[in-house]
Amino acid sequence: MNIKNIGLRNIEVADTRICFIDGENGLLTYRGFNINDLVNNSTFEEVSYLLLYDELPSAPQLTEFDKRLKEARSLPKSIINSMMDRKKNASVMDVLLTSEIMLAEYDDINDTSKESELKRAINLIAKFPTIITTWNAIKNGREIIEADPRLSHAANFLYMLHGSKPSKEYERIMDILLLLHAEHSFNASTFAAREVASTKAHIYASVAAAIAALSGELHGGANMKVMEALLEIGSVDKTNEWVKEKVRKGERIMGMGHAVYKTDDPRALILKELSKKLSKELNTPWYEITRVIEETSKREIRTSKGIDIYANVDLYSASVLYMLGIPIELFTPVFAIGRITGWCAHIIEEKFAEAQPKPVLYRPSAAYIGRYCGTHGCKYVPLKDRGMKEIKI
Ligand SMILES: CC(C)(COP(=O)(O)OP(=O)(O)OC[C@H]1O[C@@H](n2cnc3c(N)ncnc32)[C@H](O)[C@@H]1OP(=O)(O)O)[C@@H](O)C(=O)NCCC(=O)NCCS
Repeated sequence: MNIKNIGLRNIEVADTRICFIDGENGLLTYRGFNINDLVNNSTFEEVSYLLLYDELPSAPQLTEFDKRLKEARSLPKSIINSMMDRKKNASVMDVLLTSEIMLAEYDDINDTSKESELKRAINLIAKFPTIITTWNAIKNGREIIEADPRLSHAANFLYMLHGSKPSKEYERIMDILLLLHAEHSFNASTFAAREVASTKAHIYASVAAAIAALSGELHGGANMKVMEALLEIGSVDKTNEWVKEKVRKGERIMGMGHAVYKTDDPRALILKELSKKLSKELNTPWYEITRVIEETSKREIRTSKGIDIYANVDLYSASVLYMLGIPIELFTPVFAIGRITGWCAHIIEEKFAEAQPKPVLYRPSAAYIGRYCGTHGCKYVPLKDRGMKEIKI
């Protein structure tokens, strides 16, 4: 191996004012505010304002922001029509990506003022739940449910998904889920968004890159994999052996481990409590199975560097989402409903940040390990002289 820093681990590539993570001590702050304080006192709407505008809103500011979000919830007809034409087995993340990029067609993307970018951010935050629930309805041959302007962002999502208004308790849990997923510094999808934004591509293209990155199972797709595992295990008494078998085979336990946290992920601690509460209320085994996965994994996973592995945000979010009645295939899209705020905040910072240094364009280098025949390059053999080789394509 020729490179020293695989996957840009621990490499600072830009200044940011948006999010601070202390992975050693399990601290997460959005714009300086501790995630626990935000969960205890705030809402997704308020946190979205904070992330985008760098300050907690006053009451009138929050009312106006909320009004704009509600006004921007509906989708252009052509996007709904394009969903109708899609194959019903299309992946929701792919539908989200293509619907999102279509929104650029309804915007004057040549207007690159910060004010316009902030309006676009509000538009995207407002429309993500609608895109996902509209597709879910079309795919399942159900009636598309219009947004209800009397409902909060979290409650409206559950309403559009299920066709009935959620209880206050479920609304609040959904709100916390979105808030906890809203931002997480230079993770894979946010970095993808910033990288594309640094080329001066528009916000919709940047967000499309982020959606694509989030779709992978090592990033946003992990929560689905966790729930599939919980269903496969089925009961607490089988969990220990299930984990041991995975570890024996050298497979990864989804929902465990993190590139930054070297202790408990503070989001996992909050979600653990929610999972416990819901499991008790609904009399399900999901919390207990997850707890045993966590404990057995901590005991069984041995790493070459001797580091301990902890639960990440996806381990307990899976059962919470499931118990809120959210279909498994929507878990990663729900992550996107929260994270769109952070993506937009980062794209705007990338485009307008005063903080320096910031790269004009991200352009890492790689350690070349391919064919090398000296400074003049390898001898080029014309096609006719290459002989007959076995067809491999
Ligand atoms: C998220 C993740 C990619 C971060 O990994 P990372 O910090 O970059 O660390 P690495 O992938 O280099 O792993 C470090 C060591 O821990 C082990 N490890 C990390 N996560 C593991 C997991 N979930 N299960 C088993 N072993 C794990 C690796 O095998 C590696 O061991 P080694 O040093 O003996 O080769 C990784 O923890 C993972 O794949 N987790 C499962 C997927 C997941 O839950 N993703 C959601 C993240 S929020």
